[in-house]
Amino acid sequence: MKKIEAIIRPTKLEEVKASLEDAGFNSLTIIDVKGRGQQKGIIQQWRGQEYRVDALPKTKIELVVNDEDEDKAIDVIVSSTRTGNIGDGKIFVLPVEKVIRIRTGERDGKAI
Ligand SMILES: Nc1ncnc2c1ncn2[C@@H]1O[C@H](COP(=O)(O)OP(=O)(O)OP(=O)(O)O)[C@@H](O)[C@H]1O
Ligand SMILES: [Mg+2]
Repeated sequence: MKKIEAIIRPTKLEEVKASLEDAGFNSLTIIDVKGRGQQKGIIQQWRGQEYRVDALPKTKIELVVNDEDEDKAIDVIVSSTRTGNIGDGKIFVLPVEKVIRIRTGERDGKAI
């Protein structure tokens, strides 16, 4: 099993949720985050002064999937969030050891 963590533009959340659902990925966690990438935030101008905003609001989505669904989930996320501009976001994939559905006690593939 894999945990896919995608940090995306907040404006892309609804689109990626809908696309994931269409592809059969119903369960996910959504977190409001702040962060910066290789541009270290952005420079903003206000009243003639320049300010560096060093952490921008982003949205993180997390979903745990079976190994064989990893590529499909990544493709769906990339195609529904990519604009081609800097700041589109990043996807991290982590191994997951165990999943337990609390209500039933089911584990792993049955619990995803
Ligand atoms: N190496 C990293 N470690 C942890 N978080 C990261 C990393 N890279 C990016 N992020 C997170 O992803 C968000 C979006 O990153 P971003 O898309 O700007 O990456 P980038 O490497 O600067 O690529 P680009 O040049 O396309 O902007 C950041 O605001 C930060 O929250
Ligand atoms: Mg960037």
